[in-house]
Amino acid sequence: MNNNLQRYLGVIDESVQNFELPKNPAHLYEPMKYILGLGGKKIRPILTLMACELFQNNFSNAKNAALAVELFHNFSLVHDDIMDQAPLRRGVETVHTKWNENIAILSGDALLIESYKLLCLYDADLSRKLLNLFNKTATEVCEGQQNDMDFETEQLVSIDQYLDMIRKKTAVLLGCSLKMGAIVGGASDKDADDLYAFGVNLGVAFQLQDDILDVYSDQAKFGKQVGGDIIANKKTYLLLQAINDANAAQRNELENLRIEKDAIQKVEKVMAIYKTLSIQEKATTKMNEFYSVAMTNLNQLSLDEEKKKSLKELAEFLMRREI
Ligand code: IPE
Ligand code: IPE
Ligand code: MG
Ligand code: MG
Ligand code: MG
Repeated sequence: MNNNLQRYLGVIDESVQNFELPKNPAHLYEPMKYILGLGGKKIRPILTLMACELFQNNFSNAKNAALAVELFHNFSLVHDDIMDQAPLRRGVETVHTKWNENIAILSGDALLIESYKLLCLYDADLSRKLLNLFNKTATEVCEGQQNDMDFETEQLVSIDQYLDMIRKKTAVLLGCSLKMGAIVGGASDKDADDLYAFGVNLGVAFQLQDDILDVYSDQAKFGKQVGGDIIANKKTYLLLQAINDANAAQRNELENLRIEKDAIQKVEKVMAIYKTLSIQEKATTKMNEFYSVAMTNLNQLSLDEEKKKSLKELAEFLMRREI
């Protein structure tokens, strides 16, 4: 991250550090402190601050909304890791691995409740607006997560169904983060909606990137289990494109690999098919398509170019990320 992005990150880091939780019961609060203490890129709260700043000269009013989206995001990760049976998060053990699933469920729930408390700190009208958007978003995230799990065992999933699933599980939260910042900043409905559209397209590109990194990243840097999506039979863009482009023998092999018990063998063999079919390149092309649409959304916003620069920098940073 460059200095400008670091400035926003510093503000968020400070709010996360100052966010106080009780000591007891330790099995409820320790896991919450643990996941929050592991860092993460904090892109959602940064988006909230940047969006507010587009309409006000400072973003201090948006700090609670920014913290709320980060807490919601961490809640979703703790529960997602149970659903995905993921062993690693941000380079260390996931909450349900370090403690247990019941503890991960409850501490995740409590993080979600903390995000609601923060949104209730705004004046009645503003709070209601923020909560309506937040509720709509949270429902979509649940729908997307359920689709994601259902698709693991469904035979026929189209690329359009996949894109709708990632829009819900991931992209709408980026849109919501921006729109909440815009609402706090006093933006017009049109500007808030245009920013939302930018966030959703950027979010789809971001999840495509996440799917690519899940296969093609350096385990030491990535912080999550590389190959996790292949092991869990996730219907990622990569797998769907491979099923689409495969010949009969390759399609048969992909089908048989679904039940391969040896995780290392499974990942290697699926990756070999991806290589023959240039799947990494095709997924990158799809990601760039959504990124371009997002950039068009941003360019069309009739706002101060100088102020839009930060959003562009963040978007560029995201597309270059390795974690
Ligand atoms: C991970 O999000 C979950 C997805 C939606 C792909 P991030 O990649 O933003 O996770 P952190 O917060 O930086 O760890
Ligand atoms: C996560 O998608 C979306 C949410 C957390 C809601 P993934 O399951 O791909 O996210 P990672 O890869 O575990 O971070
Ligand atoms: Mg996951
Ligand atoms: Mg998941
Ligand atoms: Mg992932």
